[in-house]
Amino acid sequence: MRPPVTGSAALRQFALDPDFTHLNHGSYGATPLALLDAQDRWRRALERNPTRFLSRELVDMARVQTGRPGEGPELLRHAAEAVAAEFGGAAGDYVFVPNTTAGINAVVAGFPLAPGDRVLLLGPHYSAVGATLRAACARTGAVLDVVPLPWPAIRDEGVTQAVAAALTPRTRLAILDHVTSSTATVMPVTDLARLCRERGAAVLVDGAHAPGMLPLDIPAVGADWYVGNMHKWICAPKGAAILWTAPDRQDATRPQVVSHGAGGGYTDRFDVQGTLDPSAYLTVPDAIAWCRDQGGPALREHGRRTALAMTGMLAAELGTEAGPPPAMTGMMRLVRLPDRFGPADAVAADRLRRRLSAEHRIEVVALPLAGALWLRLSAFLYNEVEDAGLLLRALERVPAGG
Ligand SMILES: Cc1ncc(COP(=O)(O)O)c(C=O)c1O
Repeated sequence: MRPPVTGSAALRQFALDPDFTHLNHGSYGATPLALLDAQDRWRRALERNPTRFLSRELVDMARVQTGRPGEGPELLRHAAEAVAAEFGGAAGDYVFVPNTTAGINAVVAGFPLAPGDRVLLLGPHYSAVGATLRAACARTGAVLDVVPLPWPAIRDEGVTQAVAAALTPRTRLAILDHVTSSTATVMPVTDLARLCRERGAAVLVDGAHAPGMLPLDIPAVGADWYVGNMHKWICAPKGAAILWTAPDRQDATRPQVVSHGAGGGYTDRFDVQGTLDPSAYLTVPDAIAWCRDQGGPALREHGRRTALAMTGMLAAELGTEAGPPPAMTGMMRLVRLPDRFGPADAVAADRLRRRLSAEHRIEVVALPLAGALWLRLSAFLYNEVEDAGLLLRALERVPAGG
């Protein structure tokens, strides 16, 4: 496999504004022009004959409603086959959802929680996921146990020990981040899933960042459910995520929107949820192929090496530190800012982020963590170590107080 074309030469493949330094692939991804074109082709195919496309080609609605053998090409299921070929398991275990939040909500809404049951969540979870679980606990009388994890001195063994100590005989459900959002930490999710299941808790993995960032065999993680975004590190158009459900959980796993597929099986229930634009889902196979064409493992290695180099350089120049440790780093990493950038709170973080964007044309995440302000840098195909040099020069011009 030839090495991928990276850095500014790769930026031309994207619709990204070339006058900006984009160091935040992690939040929303970025879709290459070739994949926007592929999505447009799907939209045009649909609009040439919406009736045929939506009722016979995307999903064979006659089959869904009557149970008779289908005749249509079942395009959504073809897309699920490409997902299974990339991430393991059977196509019938995968359904598409618009985003990770939707996938997590579907699982949590259908999970039977009773008063006094306990739900386990890792300390650095994504805030929308925390909100979902708090709402489920308020509705059912279950109790949320958030496992605080150290930062930046985090280690696999420490995470496993903390989760082991937090599990109780009443813990029914554990939500485990594969790669955390705020601390960009790759968690020992296979070990954690085994531990939780051995102790009687069902496991839902929040893999929002993992597909495309890590080598990934989803069934081998050993969870009950795994949700992952396609729009982040796989670069599919926005509105595409996958939900994998272990076969023994599929009967009880339902979308929140009840539609024509309600009386059918797991995939029919999710594949038919009213009239939607399916073009992002249908572009996922193209996106998987695009990532492979860009080097696959070599692309991931470029991102990891660049994230380590950028944050290492910044930490040395700023006289601070970077995290997580290299063994828990994927394609994003954080660097701590010196105290002069302001108090460690969300207001100061937002002020700095806006200033870097508006005055220096740099998109990067700033956030308060463990009593300090940190920057989270993503490294994708179009990033190179020099991007961190631009960031450093911008930081030197930020006045005291951020
Ligand atoms: C760990 C984690 N979980 C969930 C989400 C939510 O993803 P989405 O916005 O696609 O619903 C994110 C988004 O960044 C995330 O980082």
